[in-house]
Order: sequence, then C-alpha cells, then structure tokens
Amino acid sequence: MSADDIFETPFGASMLEAADAPPQNVSDNPTMGELIGRRFSRRGLLKGALAVSAISATVGTAALATADAVRAQSKGSGSAFSFKEVEVGVDADHHVAEGYDADILLRWGDPLFPDAPEFDPLKQTPEAQARQFGYNNDYVGYTPLPGAADPSVHGLLFVNHEYTNPHLMFPGVVTMKDGKAVMANATRERAAIEMMAHGATVAEIRKTNGKWALVRDSKYNRRITVATEMQLSGPVAGTDRVKTNADLSGKKVFGTLNNCAGGLTPWGTFVSGEENFHGYFSGTLPEGHKEAANYKRLGLPSPPYGWGRFEERFDISKEPNEANRFGWVVEVDPFDPNSVPKKRTALGRFKHEGAESIVARDGRVVFYLGDDERFDYVYKFVTAGKFDPNNRAANMDLMDSGTLYVAKFAADGSLEWLPLVFGQGPLTAANGFASQADILIETRRAGDLLGATKMDRPEDIQPNSVTDRVYVMLTNNTSRTAEQVDTANPRAKNAFGHIIEIVEDGGDHTATKGKWEVLLKCGDPSVAAVGASFSTETSKNGWFGMPDNCAVDSAGRLWVSTDGNDIKATGRTDGLWAVDTQGEARQTSKLFYRVPHGAELCGPCFAPDDQTAFVAVQHPGDDGPDWPEFGRRSYYEDLSTRWPDFKPDMPVRPSVVAITKKGGGKIGV
Ligand code: FEO
Ligand code: CA
Ligand code: CA
Repeated sequence: MSADDIFETPFGASMLEAADAPPQNVSDNPTMGELIGRRFSRRGLLKGALAVSAISATVGTAALATADAVRAQSKGSGSAFSFKEVEVGVDADHHVAEGYDADILLRWGDPLFPDAPEFDPLKQTPEAQARQFGYNNDYVGYTPLPGAADPSVHGLLFVNHEYTNPHLMFPGVVTMKDGKAVMANATRERAAIEMMAHGATVAEIRKTNGKWALVRDSKYNRRITVATEMQLSGPVAGTDRVKTNADLSGKKVFGTLNNCAGGLTPWGTFVSGEENFHGYFSGTLPEGHKEAANYKRLGLPSPPYGWGRFEERFDISKEPNEANRFGWVVEVDPFDPNSVPKKRTALGRFKHEGAESIVARDGRVVFYLGDDERFDYVYKFVTAGKFDPNNRAANMDLMDSGTLYVAKFAADGSLEWLPLVFGQGPLTAANGFASQADILIETRRAGDLLGATKMDRPEDIQPNSVTDRVYVMLTNNTSRTAEQVDTANPRAKNAFGHIIEIVEDGGDHTATKGKWEVLLKCGDPSVAAVGASFSTETSKNGWFGMPDNCAVDSAGRLWVSTDGNDIKATGRTDGLWAVDTQGEARQTSKLFYRVPHGAELCGPCFAPDDQTAFVAVQHPGDDGPDWPEFGRRSYYEDLSTRWPDFKPDMPVRPSVVAITKKGGGKIGV
C-alpha cells in the first residue's frame, strides 16, 4: 500500500455512531430548562397526600390522573424477575445467569444455503460472503413459521448486519506506524466483501431437544446485501430528488446500508432502520447544489467507507441524488424469498434506529422511531389504514400512507406529537418545501421548524403491548451543556444515557398527546455526581450505562441491552439487563447476560413462549488502544479474544446467541 492508501480511520465500534461525530442539529429550538425543577418520581407520587398536594400545585390535574392510574397498576412490590444475576466483569467470553445456556446459533461466515462455502477467513470472497451470515448482527426478530405445530420452536429469524470492522475481519489491514495502528483504505476486493457482509439475513431455525439450529436447506433462507434490488415506495417514490442516472424512475434502488434496529409488523414482515448511511458516501457536491443543506444536516458525506471509489453512485459529485435513496425504513417479507424489499418513505428519512410497532385500539398501526444522533428527535408514524388480521395481503402497503409525527416533550411531563404534514404550520414553500416528499427527504429540517425536543441520541423505542406504555432508550450525549439541560434530557454531559417512559393519552397509541417521565437515569448509582436513579435494591451488578436496544417479553417485562460499557467507562462489559417497571420494584435492574469485551449487545428478542431469548453480540473484540487491561488495539493479527470459537485459526466472529433455561421454562422467571 502507498502512503496515500493509509489513513487513521476511526477503528472503534461506534466509528459511525454519533459519539465520534459532531452533532448535526444546529437549529435554535429552545431547550426547556428546569422550569419546574426536577421531575418527581412515580415512587414519590405514591407517598401520600402531602406529596400529592405539592405536586398538584405544580403539575395540575392531568398529571394527577396519570398518578391515579399508576397507583392502580402498582400492585405488589416484588421484582418481576427471579434469576441469580451475573457478576459484572470484563473478559474474553460471554456469561449468562446460572441455570441458563447461551448457545451460539449463527456466526459471521456461517453458510446459509446447502451450496454455500464453509467460512474460511483467509480465502473470503464477495461471492462466498453473499451466501454466508453477514457481519455485525444487530436487530434480531423472530416470527413463527406458518403451520408450525409449536410457534415457539420453529420460525424465521431476521437479523440486520449493520456494518463491518475490516481490522477484525481481514489480515493485512492494520500496520503499526510510529507505535500507532493505522488501517489501510479498502481495496476493491475488500470493499466488495464488506458490501456483501452488510444488509440482513432471513434464516429458518428450529428447536429440537431444547437446542436451536439453522435449517440450512430452507427455501426461506435469504441474504440481503448492498446489491439487493429494492423499491422506493410511498410519497417520495418517483419524485425528482430520488432519480439518478441509473434509475430515471426514482423507484428502483440497490441495497440497504447500516441496518441497525428494526421491528416485526403485525402482518409478519420485518422492518429495518437505515442508520448511519452517511458514512458510505464520498465526494463533494457541485458548488451551490440544492442538496447541500440536506446533506449537511445528515453529516454526509463522511468517512470511513468511501465506497465512491468503487461504485460511482456512492460519490456525490457524480451521483448527487443517490444518498436521498438511503436513510429509510425498509420492509422485508420473510415468507417470500423473492420479494423486493420496500423502502417505506412515509416514515421519513433520518438515521433510523428501529421501528417497533403496535396495533392501536381502532386498528391503525403505530411505529415508534428514533433518530440516533445527539440532539435529534423521537418520531412516530400512524398508518392511515387499519390492520386486518384476516387478510395479510390487505396490510402489505399499510406503511405507505399515514402521518409522521415528531415529539415535543414539555417540562410539565406532557408530550405533544407534532404532525409533519406539507402545508401545515411552517412546512410550506416559504421554507423550501414543495411537497410531502420534500418534508420526508428532509425530515430533520421539518422537525427543526416545528420545535421538536432535542434528545440525547434516541435509540430503540418499544411499545409494551401489555401495559401500553412506551420505552425510549436515550443512549448518551456528552455534548449537552448545563444550559441545554431540560427535563426530558436532565443531565449535562450525559455519559450514561437514560430511559423515558411514555403513556399516550387514554392508552391510545394514535393520540397526539401523552405524558412522560424518566424511568431511569443510567450510570453508577453509588457515585452521587453521576445522578443515576436505579432503585436501592439494584446491586453493583445491576446498574448499566448506555441503553441501546430493548425488548418487552410476553409478560410485559422490560429487557435492556447496552452499547458502550467497557472497562474504562463503567468497569463492565455490555450486556442484557432485566428492568422492573411496575410496583415498588420499579427502577430495579439485574444483569442477566454479559458479552465478551469489545462487544456491544444488540437484539434482544423473545420467542413467543418466552422460553428463548435471542441476542446479537456485535463487534466482539473491538477493543481500542486505551484499554488498560489489554494496552493495545485489537486487530486481525493481534486479537484480544477469539470468541466464540476460540480456535487459533479463527478470528473473532459476531454471533447471534440463543439463551434458554436448562431443562426448559420461561426466561427470567
Ligand atoms: Fe446502530 Fe443507534 O445504534
Ligand atoms: Ca442500536
Ligand atoms: Ca449501537
């Protein structure tokens, strides 16, 4: 490689995630300030008439009605979880609570088809990778196979492959220069393999004698990659800003990028969020180009992938509209392996984390959406049509029409969902919007104009179908200053993140108003300056930082997985924590599973019978040079762990893990 081929690319796990990039929201939306001081805790509400009258004077009767509802629901005081929690630690293996098995189900490189080659890291090719399980598994969803005798033991798994870590995947990528590891730019061949390692996997899996395995000859198995043909659908499809030299229709696009979290729809399709898509584009827009402000608001283009060197469409100087065809929620029908995935533009374009949904009482379907960047927004989408449980075909384009809303959190604990509709309020030609398509392509700018609340990196958002509450993971935001603190983002230099709980008015997910409160401020509760709010029953193992993904099991219990805990930040690895949300145990958290160092934990997903938890161990071994325990950067020739195979000729491999109880039974009970 020549000197020009070497650059100090960010190696880290979150090389594309917001912690490494400047925030893009420079709008002057006001922060709320601490107008009524610190929000009272729900526990505080239960402590008698004095507290209630004090609160009454402050927040009025609406909030008190919520308090009454909460009081009615808060029966019993014990934790909903009974398992012996794992001890925190930092080592090269994963660990699950006593009495459980954590089995590797799918690893990077595992062949998914009868004719797919076995994984050979030294002879990897794009063709092989396209037939094997991809890299950096993130979202995991499960849906039963139609006609399965037991829906909880035979189904389809949908897994996102968010991004690639070339320094862990390939030999010869890292060289030491002046005592520092530097990573070479991709060659054409390497980039082609990485493109095939992105995307998603559909895999048929079956549980036999308590153990899950891939059905390798399934007709459903599928790899989706950067080369997969997709369709732009909804209001933006066919409009000028998504037409390219290669696609004058503005409807046909190849591939999906940086698929982070996702969701399972009520009609059994999977949706996948295109998150940090800006990092794949290179080049410079022509001077004065009309997309300049749009791309700036998204931080586009950005290192590290620079795929414009290999495919012109990723070079914005040559194909300025291609980037408008990414940043969407993509819907995949897993039951038809030939189906064309659809980018559902009605749900807006931003750095989509996930898209979990719930059927509202009137039958419309509501998707909750986070835009994962510091100071960006929380959204929801309400379909215009209603879900028909008896007619799957009638549901297949429900995501093409409806209303997208952005959240405004008020200091009094109320919440307003502001519609992003062309012609309403400031969303007009006077502000450069000529149509609904323009609003959807520049969703963030529309949110800026409506005065949406700037949040601390919205990640997964999960409606709980048992309680109708909604949980918002806000992973961190160390850029928030004391002046920018507000009640929904209550800490300056928020290193450890927090979780907000939303109750929509009347428990109706289509409501345009609701209530909210902070469920948890994360971090070490024994350090007063951190300001964490775990219950006193939470042990030294039970607290965590940086909530990222989450799941609610069929009993309505909340499970949170994390991204960013490490020996330096929190003295623990990432993992899966069980978090009580009800009764006196509310805000109590327990560690159920932890990952090898260098990894984050994604997924989590429960089989319908709650007897399996599927989790995704992403970027294991991606340790930076500042880790005191290891004192070096981990890369292919010098790996800090070889999880999960622990074989000298096998690199570290991101994997989906199936967690079951020894002898059977529900998880965590
Ligand atoms: Fe890809 Fe927001 O985590
Ligand atoms: Ca995530
Ligand atoms: Ca993440």
